[in-house]
Amino acid sequence: MQESRRRFVKISGAISLIPVLGIQALSENKALAQGRARSKRAGLGSPQKKGAFEPLPPSNVDDISLAKGFQWYPLLKMGDVINAAGDKAGDCCDFIHFHPGENKDHAFLWVNHEYVIDNVLYGKRVKAEDKTKEQVIEERKLVGGSYVEIRRSRANGGRWEVVANSTKAFRIDGNSQIPMVGPAGGAIVTGTMGNCGGGFTPWGSVLSGEENVDVYYQDPAGYGWGNFFPHSKRDYGWIVEVDVQKKSARKLTALGRFAHEGSTVVARVQKKVVVYMGDDAKSQCLYKFVSKNVLTGNAEKDRDLLLEGDLYVANFKKGQWILLSPENEKLKNDQKKRFVTQADICNETREAAHLAGGTKLNRPEDVKVDPQSGEVYFTLTNNSDVGDFHGSIVYLQENAGDHTAASFTFETYLAGGKSSGISCPDNLTFGPGRHLWVCTDISSEVMGKGSHASFVRNSCFRLENDEHGNVYARHFLQGPADAEITGPCFSPDEKSLFLSIQHPGESSYYEGTTLTSHWPLGGSAKPLSTVIVVEENKGSFSR
Ligand code: FEO
Ligand code: CA
Ligand code: CA
Ligand code: CA
Repeated sequence: MQESRRRFVKISGAISLIPVLGIQALSENKALAQGRARSKRAGLGSPQKKGAFEPLPPSNVDDISLAKGFQWYPLLKMGDVINAAGDKAGDCCDFIHFHPGENKDHAFLWVNHEYVIDNVLYGKRVKAEDKTKEQVIEERKLVGGSYVEIRRSRANGGRWEVVANSTKAFRIDGNSQIPMVGPAGGAIVTGTMGNCGGGFTPWGSVLSGEENVDVYYQDPAGYGWGNFFPHSKRDYGWIVEVDVQKKSARKLTALGRFAHEGSTVVARVQKKVVVYMGDDAKSQCLYKFVSKNVLTGNAEKDRDLLLEGDLYVANFKKGQWILLSPENEKLKNDQKKRFVTQADICNETREAAHLAGGTKLNRPEDVKVDPQSGEVYFTLTNNSDVGDFHGSIVYLQENAGDHTAASFTFETYLAGGKSSGISCPDNLTFGPGRHLWVCTDISSEVMGKGSHASFVRNSCFRLENDEHGNVYARHFLQGPADAEITGPCFSPDEKSLFLSIQHPGESSYYEGTTLTSHWPLGGSAKPLSTVIVVEENKGSFSR
């Protein structure tokens, strides 16, 4: 969800006085002043003739624009039937994870559904107090996630298609009953929502981040779900683990409660499991969780590894991970005695993190780990409160390459703005040839305007380093009007890139009575969030 969406909950506090990590705060860094990282990572995504493509010029069309040599097609639109029971895909597709199936032409996708574009749904702006209970129940079906079965269709040129009568596909949504486990566990709560980024585990489960959750029940100017259903604010803001075999979900309280963007798991047999997590709000922090026990490689033995462990927040001034536990001196000495147990810390993680010395950042979002070097890359989308309008990508090295380490070094990898061609980086993924791919999330209020005019729309880029470590962002794909590009996921054979085209036409009816997009159906159709597949016209991305 974009920060300036009309119902976005404002983060309170004297933000302008808060030290933040962003372009300004890092300008002392010599490498940064050059706007380029100068590390010895020339191998990472180096420009190569093989697999290169002409960068795409920006465009104003209400459609997907794509680099020459590639094609795209829609796979899963909001409202598409996904199984024999008639369940339907939700709104605002986001994180995608590819589960291999019985052969190379069969697979399953987990797809997050972040939120509901109710103005497009109803064809006008509807106030929370004017909604009925039945409408709220229907809205709650549009969030959460979908597990869908897909096959390549010989009859349709080998394209991936959803198996609409699947018996394995299922939905988790805002009406599901979901148990909470871990230090603040015990209750069973209704629903998950705000499902933005995510992750996956070696034992086969999917992790789904509950991000901007306060707009559903808490905010009087929000969706108004709280007008009909009792709730606690502590029911939401967790990482949800979905067992796709058992079609069940649970909320992992050990990983803390905040605006979870996603959750990137680093796991090796006989090592503790590490999960990196961003809290996507202005002046919030970066976290990591380290499991108490080590990975065995046996899925049944490993499946509870994220129920117990240590939660850390990053301090960038010291380059240290600060343990958030009742034994932390600052938490122990809290005058209000808010953090007596680990459950207290998990329930109010932001407050604990700030008190303990976590560094406030410019909206930390996706985190991805270089599969070869182990370097950790994460995005800072922006923070207009401190004059950071275009964000950046930061890379972090754990001490001695140990993901459980207590200390780290870091530098900016790419600064957003005209010189790099990227604004508001959000989701990352490592693709063929170790290239890092980045998708952007410029909010629809500023898209194509003012300092964002040259970026026109949200896009997907492939990043490349030259032999000096200079970073080049190759423009690959651009979205339709108002849309965010998110959920980038390559198939293991590197032939398909799955992308979520989220909230096209989001600002419809904000001013006037018109739809701002008709993508993907065209004509006078309502816009629909849609998962698309991008493939090279011949062969695979890696060629
Ligand atoms: Fe839902 Fe942080 O993007
Ligand atoms: Ca975002
Ligand atoms: Ca979003
Ligand atoms: Ca995101």
